[in-house]
Amino acid sequence: MYDQCEDTLLLIDSISEYSGSSVLEIGVGSGGICRKLIENFSFVVGTDVEIESIKSCKKNISKIHWICCDVVSAICGKFDLIVSNPPYLPNEDIYDIQDRTIYGGKEGIELTCRFIEDSIPLLKMNGKIIIVCSSLANLESLENFISYKNLEKKIINTKKIFFETLYVYELKFKS
Ligand SMILES: C[S@@+](CC[C@H](N)C(=O)[O-])C[C@H]1O[C@@H](n2cnc3c(N)ncnc32)[C@H](O)[C@@H]1O
Repeated sequence: MYDQCEDTLLLIDSISEYSGSSVLEIGVGSGGICRKLIENFSFVVGTDVEIESIKSCKKNISKIHWICCDVVSAICGKFDLIVSNPPYLPNEDIYDIQDRTIYGGKEGIELTCRFIEDSIPLLKMNGKIIIVCSSLANLESLENFISYKNLEKKIINTKKIFFETLYVYELKFKS
């Protein structure tokens, strides 16, 4: 299970101003993001592909709907906000699964793109996606993908740590 790290804290800091009726987090890990979201949203859903994460969150954090599934495969409905700190580190060998909590594919963005693509049908027309990404991943390709999906991007937070810079993107439908 993913323990809270710099990226978790950056995302917690970035979401504190958002509020609404419904929010979804993809990849909850130990549940710290959802714990923050429940302060400003009345309906909070969190998914993770790792059963141990979901079991731990269910045991320790109440008032949130915890669901074990791949990305959003078990979810329907529309959300005001969709949040994720996806696995974003590039891994050289795509056939080596390694740690699925941190490796996001050969370019570091493959899982991020899937998280974004699968989120789009679940987003209200004026809804937003908040997602963490890293300078270690192929951000140029990610930005092309975002634009191709008819979304516009704003950087709402950044943090430099050792060998990388973390970015928090806010995405919404192009107007
Ligand atoms: C970088 S961790 C972030 C955890 C937590 N949100 C945080 O910020 O501390 C990424 C999380 O995504 C989950 N994950 C990886 N692949 C997934 C998938 N296909 N569907 C849902 N969750 C996934 C991992 O199990 C992990 O908990």
